[in-house]
Amino acid sequence: MHNSVKKVHLDKPLNISLIAAVSRNWVIGYDNRLAWHIPGELKYFKKITWGKPVIMGRKTYQSIGSPLPGRDNLILTRQHWLRIPGVQIFHDIASILEYLPADEECMVIGGTDIYERFMPLANRMYITWIEHDFKGSSFFPVWPTDEWQEITRQTHQPTINNPYLFSYCIFERIKPAKYVDNESS
Ligand SMILES: NC(=O)c1ccc[n+]([C@@H]2O[C@H](COP(=O)([O-])OP(=O)(O)OC[C@H]3O[C@@H](n4cnc5c(N)ncnc54)[C@H](OP(=O)(O)O)[C@@H]3O)[C@@H](O)[C@H]2O)c1
Repeated sequence: MHNSVKKVHLDKPLNISLIAAVSRNWVIGYDNRLAWHIPGELKYFKKITWGKPVIMGRKTYQSIGSPLPGRDNLILTRQHWLRIPGVQIFHDIASILEYLPADEECMVIGGTDIYERFMPLANRMYITWIEHDFKGSSFFPVWPTDEWQEITRQTHQPTINNPYLFSYCIFERIKPAKYVDNESS
């Protein structure tokens, strides 16, 4: 079910943001890689996430291939034997929430299930909309539009290095998420 997460009771204020590049048909990746190459977008991702904890699924980590420098890399996997040098491994969302520093902006960087699980806890989303349809195997979850408001949009025209029109958008939460008390790990 979309946007369902067990109600979490934490004794600290969390500041969770999602960041994703999403195509017109909601694709975020194909065959465990990005479906496009937009050099400026990668620089934007680095700028927004630099110095912050980054939370990702094991497949996203594998598609990146090494720890993102300058950031605390937190990887979710159900494989209890998995060890990866230079990253912190977690086996459920509750343990990550306990680990996260209070107040500091923590970045959820994908993929699909991780975005979906963290979205109800997030208060900001950095979405890069790419105005093109791509073949995909991973998708961004559709969000409840009444809970979010677009606060900025910066559109970039296609260039010689990048054939796609795209926009950097920031959404902020304007309404608390509807929690559903079910399994959250
Ligand atoms: N466009 C973008 O902004 C963007 C961002 C990120 C990723 N991507 C793309 O998305 C694709 C990868 O994303 P994906 O959705 O396929 O996979 P993913 O979310 O990165 O990883 C899925 C894995 O995460 C682990 N996991 C998920 N939920 C968990 C939970 N609740 N508890 C413990 N572990 C959990 C499991 O690992 P185990 O199987 O090890 O148990 C699961 O197989 C790639 O194509 C990548 O390039 C795009």
